[in-house]
This record gives sequence, C-alpha cells and structure tokens, in this order.
Amino acid sequence: MTKRSKPGRMAEFERYAEGRHHWVAASMVGSAVSSVLSVVPFYYIWKIVGEALDAGDPDVMIGYGWSAMLFAVLSISVYIASLVVSHFAAFRIAKNMKKTLVEHALKLSPGAFDDEGSGRIRRVIQDSVESTHEFIAHNQPDLAGTYVLPFAIVALLLVFDWRLGIAALVPVLIGGYVSMSMMGKSSMQESMTEWQSSMADVNNKAVEYVRGISVVKVFQQTVDSFQSLKGSIDSYARYCQGYTEMARRPMTGFFVLVNSCVLFVVMFGVVIVEFIEGGAVSNILISNVVFYAVFTPLISVLMMRIMFSSDQTYRVDDALMRVNEILSMKPLEEPSVPQMPESFDVRFEGVRFSYSDDLAPAIDGVSLELKQGTITALVGPSGSGKSTMAGLAGRFWDPQEGSVSIGGIDLREIGSGNIRSLESFVFQNNRLVKGTLLDNVRLGRPEAGPEEVAEALRMAQCDDIVAKMPDGLDTFIGPGGTYLSGGEVQRIAIARAILRNAPIVILDEATAFADPENEHLIQKAFEELSKGRTVLLIAHRLTTVRNADMVCVMDHGRIIESGRHDELLLSEGKYRDMWEDYQRTLSWKVKEVSA
Ligand SMILES: Nc1ncnc2c1ncn2[C@@H]1O[C@H](COP(=O)(O)OP(=O)(O)OP(=O)(O)O)[C@@H](O)[C@H]1O
Ligand SMILES: [Mg+2]
Repeated sequence: MTKRSKPGRMAEFERYAEGRHHWVAASMVGSAVSSVLSVVPFYYIWKIVGEALDAGDPDVMIGYGWSAMLFAVLSISVYIASLVVSHFAAFRIAKNMKKTLVEHALKLSPGAFDDEGSGRIRRVIQDSVESTHEFIAHNQPDLAGTYVLPFAIVALLLVFDWRLGIAALVPVLIGGYVSMSMMGKSSMQESMTEWQSSMADVNNKAVEYVRGISVVKVFQQTVDSFQSLKGSIDSYARYCQGYTEMARRPMTGFFVLVNSCVLFVVMFGVVIVEFIEGGAVSNILISNVVFYAVFTPLISVLMMRIMFSSDQTYRVDDALMRVNEILSMKPLEEPSVPQMPESFDVRFEGVRFSYSDDLAPAIDGVSLELKQGTITALVGPSGSGKSTMAGLAGRFWDPQEGSVSIGGIDLREIGSGNIRSLESFVFQNNRLVKGTLLDNVRLGRPEAGPEEVAEALRMAQCDDIVAKMPDGLDTFIGPGGTYLSGGEVQRIAIARAILRNAPIVILDEATAFADPENEHLIQKAFEELSKGRTVLLIAHRLTTVRNADMVCVMDHGRIIESGRHDELLLSEGKYRDMWEDYQRTLSWKVKEVSA
C-alpha cells in the first residue's frame, strides 16, 4: 500500500465533505486550543501553592482557584464543541462516501457482484465508512490536541522557573535524540510500514482461514493445514521479535532518561540553591521541583502517542484505497438511445471472453443461436464455461471479442435497462432477501398484487412451501425467518421468474438438490416457466435436457458437440460418455436405496 500524503488524504475527504471540510480543520484547531487551555489551571494551582507556602492572602488564593476552574471548564467546553463540529463533518463525509459508493455499485453490471465481489463491496461500504467516521470524528481532533499539548507543557515549565524548566527538558531531549539516532528515523518509518504490511497479511490470511473453517472442521484438519496463515503468523512473530530486539536498548535508554528527570530537577535545584541563591531553600523552589517531577514524564507519554498515531492513518488510508478501488470499477457503457428488439432469439457470434487480462479465456470463440420459443441446454464439466455463457447472455460483462444479440440487436445497443426487462434469471445459488415470501417473489415484478404472486407460486409448484408458512405469504423467510431448503429456494426463484413474465429465461440449474421429490417439482416448475419462451438451460442432471430442442456440450470454453439428445447419443462423442456415466450414477442411487 502506498502511503498517502496528508494533503492527498484531506483532498479526498474534501470531495465528500460538501463544504464541511473546513469543519474538520476547525475541530482540530478547537482541540489544539483546548489542549493549551487545559494546562492553564495548573498554572493557577502552582500560584495557589506558592501563595500558601508564603502564607499569602486567602482571597487571592480563592481568586486563583476560580480562575483554575474557569479554564478547566473552558478547556472541556472547547473540546466538546470541537468534537461536535468534527462529528458534523464526519457524518456528512461518511454519508456522502456511502451514497457515492452505493450509487456507483448500482451502476455496475451484475458481473461485479459474483460471490466474492458482492461480499467485498458490502464490506468496503460498511468498514471504510466506519473507519472514515472514526478518523474524522475522533482521531483527527485528538491528534491535533496531542501535538500541541507537549508545547503547552514546555511553555508552562519555562514559566514556572526557566532554569528548572531547562533542567527538566535536558533528559527528555537527550533521550529523544539518543533513541532516534540509535534506531534511525528512516528505519523507524520502514519498520512501521513493514509492521503494517505484515499485519495486513495476517488479517487477509485469517479471513481466508475463517471462510474455509467449515471445510477444515468437516475434514478434521488442524491449523497446520492452513500453511499460509501459519506462515504469515510466524513471519509476523519473527518481525515483532526482531523489532523488539532492535528497539530494546534505545527505548530502555529513552525511558530511563525521561523518568530520571526528577533526579535532574533535584540536582539542578541543589545547584541553584548552592550557587545562585546562596544556600537558602525557598518554598517556591520546593513546589517547583514537585510540579516538574509530575509534569515532565507527561511529555514522553505524549511523544509516544504521536509515534503510534500512524496506526490510525494507516487504517484510514487503507479504507480510502479500497473505496477508490470500487469507484474505479467501470460500469458498462450504456447506449444513448436504447433499442428494443421485436423478436427474442438470442445469438452468440464468435464470442471470446476472459474474466481478466491475465486469465485464460473462459469462453473461447463460441457461436450459438437460441431460437425464439425453444429450449437450448448447455451441459459439460465443471468450469467449462456454462455459467459464464449465462452471464454473457444477460450482459453481466461485454465479451472482448464477438457479440451477443437479442432479435438481431447487439446487447450493447439494447442497454442494461431493457435487457433486465427482457430476461428472467434463475441462478445456480439463488439468494433470498430479508423479508416475507411475498416480498421475495415480488422482486420479479414489484407492482404485482398478492393474487398474482400466489398464482406464480402455484405454477412454480410451491403449494407445499406456502402450506407450511404460518402466516401465509406474509411469513418471514430466509435469514432469521422460516428455513427453506436449497430445492425450495430454487422453486421460489422460479416463481419469481414466472411472475416477471419476460420472453427470455436463463436457468442455471442447481447441483445440490438430489432429493427426488424436489427434483421432480423443480422439473415441473421449470416446464411451466419455459412455456413459449426462449430458454437457456444449464443442466447438471442430464434427465432435464432430454426434452431440450438443442443440447450443446461445452468443454474448456468451447462448444464441442451440439444437437438433439437422441442425435448426440448416436454420434458416440463426449455427450454419450457423459450420458452413460450419468446412467451409472443413477443406477448406483437406485441400488443404494434398495439396499
Ligand atoms: N468471477 C470469476 N473470476 C475469474 N474467473 C472466473 C470467475 N467465474 C468463473 N471463472 C472461471 O471461468 C471458467 C468458467 O467458469 P463457469 O462458472 O462458467 O463454469 P461452469 O461451467 O458454470 O461450472 P459449474 O458446472 O461448476 O457451475 C472457470 O475456469 C472458472 O474458474
Ligand atoms: Mg456454473
């Protein structure tokens, strides 16, 4: 990750601040002022102690007391006000950042939201906005205060007694200088960067590990099976050990010197008494020594806080980088005048597509026509490119070569909006949204009434699902609601597509639902859905393709055979092998059941 310069970071926030970027600066100034004000009460307390030691006027002491109180209250009030201001700025920046991201995400084609992508985009929107809020609302003003406070304390020390002030600062300065020169400023920065990337590596590997944890548990593997996570933890541990060893001497020296400032102050006090004030110990000198002993170590604490503040900037830089990564994902180009086809055959012509420049093509020169009102089935081994074909038919991505058209018009001319109204999708892994059964089916056509939804459910063979819903269509399903099996979810997705009533249907059959009852119902639901429509059916169970008007066998992104089921069986090619294998697995199942 490249480290962002401070003006660069602020300029980025300015884009989202809608005029409130000055508020960020104002909150930092406010917090700095509050830091300065926060040391003033100690000045008055010092005055009170001085008066008391000299048996001074009680009224004057009470006056000082009130002044101390006033400045303490003022300091807290200014701090609170600056936090209010920083929160106003942070809310606006975070809100606009979220809005920009969501609006951009909505413009992206569905291809950007594959399994990995949708989770990633959601996480970026949530986490980046959160860390930006934290940075603007809290870290920035606090950091400004932390930077100013050591100067205010030094000024105070010099005001009390400049000679003792210098004596107290000598060990802090020597300590700072010695530790810096032993560790080296550049090596400090290098170490910080190294630490951050090492942390990021552990985090990424841990996320990967957690994602796969169910598999690890099922196969009773140990952490050792995740060599890469273990490797990154080991290298992080090695880094920490090395850094600790490198920093041990300079840091010990620094802390010993800083905390020995009391000794310096006392020694210097003795020198002052002996040589300057002729042996007389004044009360004020004693009180000064006590104050110095309390205050000086604070400077080192603040310096440490500043040294470790880069952790927060690292987090927000990381968040900004992820936000920009998403914003740089280009939406597909849309036509200025979207065309609407009048017929609905779908044609692939010389299509070549790869998911990214450095990957082999997932579709490698495919030409195929899905005739209007017919069923075309795609079969083939896993990874042969079937789902990719479905995505290309829905313009989730544009092919790098060749074209996909509906009714003779290129999808790029039809535009994403029209394509969505022409096509219904039933995906391989359908998802339910948080809501009722009605909401979930109505996603197909939001203006549909409850009767139409009920009819679509009936046509999609969902009577058994509706029957077990305690509140009928108004029952909450999906996450946190009534549980539905994979086969049931697939039927609800088919009901959604039936309700949509689009002329083209693309159905990526789920592999996981072997339960024969569900399989039979899905098959019937699919028959309802395909009536009179142009259908692209991606089939894993070959029984479902027997009635297709055309079957295409895919392998390595190409169509290697095509024809009707019975024609393909006669041709003794890959399809026949697949069919024979499939028959064998069916007979195994039958044997298992009868056994
Ligand atoms: N989002 C993606 N990014 C990169 N590569 C991908 C992506 N999706 C699929 N691929 C790759 O493209 C190729 C075709 O994948 P596709 O999903 O189309 O196969 P499939 O025939 O549908 O397989 P299955 O039967 O397992 O569903 C595979 O090599 C796959 O690894
Ligand atoms: Mg697939």
